[in-house]
Amino acid sequence: ITDIVTIPVVVHVVHDPRAPEQNISDEQIRSQLTVLNQDYRAANPDAGKVPEVWRPLVADARIEFRLADRAPDGTPTDGIVRAETDRRGFTWDDGVKSKRTGGADPWPADQYLNLWVCRLTGGLLGYAQFPGGPPQTDGVVILHSAFGTSGTAAAPYNGGRTATHEIGHWLDLYHIWGDDDGACSSDDKVADTPNQAGENTGVPKFPHISCDNGPNGDMFMNYMDYTDDDAMFLFTQGQSTRMRACLEGARASFMV
Ligand code: ARG
Ligand code: ZN
Ligand code: CA
Repeated sequence: ITDIVTIPVVVHVVHDPRAPEQNISDEQIRSQLTVLNQDYRAANPDAGKVPEVWRPLVADARIEFRLADRAPDGTPTDGIVRAETDRRGFTWDDGVKSKRTGGADPWPADQYLNLWVCRLTGGLLGYAQFPGGPPQTDGVVILHSAFGTSGTAAAPYNGGRTATHEIGHWLDLYHIWGDDDGACSSDDKVADTPNQAGENTGVPKFPHISCDNGPNGDMFMNYMDYTDDDAMFLFTQGQSTRMRACLEGARASFMV
């Protein structure tokens, strides 16, 4: 299939009233949606920074994201849910995903991409659940100051790329280095991304060679590496194919 797939999104803003900055603005939320709709359509303004050798691999995944206009009960909504919490912060334990643990319950995971935005502790920018997991915890969690491009978004994570990266996982993409801790033994199961040893951070200089992947080296400007927001600019054709396969398989309920 080559049609554009539109994913309805609900953003749960889980905020502690003692820290009002956590209650991010509608505008900051919309700035994140704008970045997603650029990055997943290869319409990002920085796409021209992809090194020449990899330009033919730049993919338009033909996936779009829209704030939901209908709640699960059919009533009109702006796709934004605001929930107060008495918790000072959350971590990777899925606590933010349930009202019982101080968070907000998900909307049905087969019809909505649930995005929770909150304070995360321990330097965590975000985390995602891969396809095939329990519906009650399905979706993506993002630190409020790594969400969108305005408001509380703070450099070097104010380019909206944390959500681009985490939604890549939600659509079955692995880290580009294969999570093998430098061993070069496993990869991301995508043929057109070079095998690379470990994660890159900050703003690397091209080329950065590892795992015998010269002369071009690591594709550290891929959204599935760990570089800064203004140093990542592409998904490849192979990654796009893998995400589209997820939308025909485990997440086929979004193909309406
Ligand atoms: N899961 C990663 C973390 O928490 C997200 C990295 C996102 N990278 C970025 N440039 N925004 O560290
Ligand atoms: Zn990741
Ligand atoms: Ca690869």
